[in-house]
Amino acid sequence: MSIERVGIIGAGQMGNGIAHVIALAGYSVAISDVSNDQAQAALATIDGNLARQVSAGKISDEDRRAALSRISLMNSYDELAKIDLVIEAAAEDEDVKRKIFAEICPYLNPETVIATNTSSISVTRLAASTDRPEKFIGIHFMNPVPVMDLVEMIRGIQTGDETFEKSRSFVESLGKTIAVAEDFPGFMVNRILLPMINESIYTLYEGVGSVKSIDTAMRLGARHPMGPLQLADFIGLDTCLSIMQVLYEGLADTKYRPCPLLVKYVEAGWLGRKTQRGFYDYRGDEPVPTR
Ligand code: CAA
Repeated sequence: MSIERVGIIGAGQMGNGIAHVIALAGYSVAISDVSNDQAQAALATIDGNLARQVSAGKISDEDRRAALSRISLMNSYDELAKIDLVIEAAAEDEDVKRKIFAEICPYLNPETVIATNTSSISVTRLAASTDRPEKFIGIHFMNPVPVMDLVEMIRGIQTGDETFEKSRSFVESLGKTIAVAEDFPGFMVNRILLPMINESIYTLYEGVGSVKSIDTAMRLGARHPMGPLQLADFIGLDTCLSIMQVLYEGLADTKYRPCPLLVKYVEAGWLGRKTQRGFYDYRGDEPVPTR
């Protein structure tokens, strides 16, 4: 069975980016979210991002319209019966993801592959919570999905060869480059990236530099496209904290201890761009450092 129809569970910043690239590659996509408003907002975001690509001359307006016409909102899980691949892109919370798998599995065709876009949680453990561990895989997109070339693919211990090959061809058909990672906490990108971000927060916490000087240092001194604090706000501070907790608990090494200042920002509900406040305040015309 080849992949023609894709279902996306979760219409947040990752879900909408994933739907965008999959629809642009010619597949039909159905999006589902617990919040109808969020799902509606995702369609508007996708339209806006496709329009950016039209203005930049990367795609034609005809491509934009065709991609949008291939995206629909899922009204009920009954529609999952016609889906060939489900991509779960919900919050980075194991209980939330398990609950979703328990809810959707009874509606799926036995051949349907389930992929998780988890950025750090064990694919093996998530696979074991479903009725089809051999048809379960990690497909980890990077944010912003329409711009970033990489997709990390993670095999759980149970992932079948057929599932892996089918998923690999699918991801390649999106025009992305694949890096295959073993199923260990944080896989590759976040195992390396998040300790760097966490260290930048410690650097701020210990008063070594201000928000502005730390970001300037890494943008101009290491040629990163964004400073690490700016990137933390972009990823979402709650997601950064969840990933650090997975690394800390999964690898049992104190070097992964989440910075208390990161915990404090998350407790305040200052989660970065999505809540308009994090290490920067985004409510005005220009981002203003909050420390
Ligand atoms: N959809 C479509 N196009 C987009 C877009 C989106 N969501 N976001 C940006 N773009 C396009 C812009 O239109 C622009 O296109 P042109 O060059 O053709 O004009 C281009 O991308 C660059 O954007 P901007 O000019 O607005 O801004 P920029 O030059 O600062 O680039 C950025 C923005 C691409 C996000 C860049 O800052 C960057 O690469 N940042 C680092 C991102 C990163 O590290 N991502 C990984 C996060 S980690 C992760 O995702 C894993 C995880 O699990 C946490």
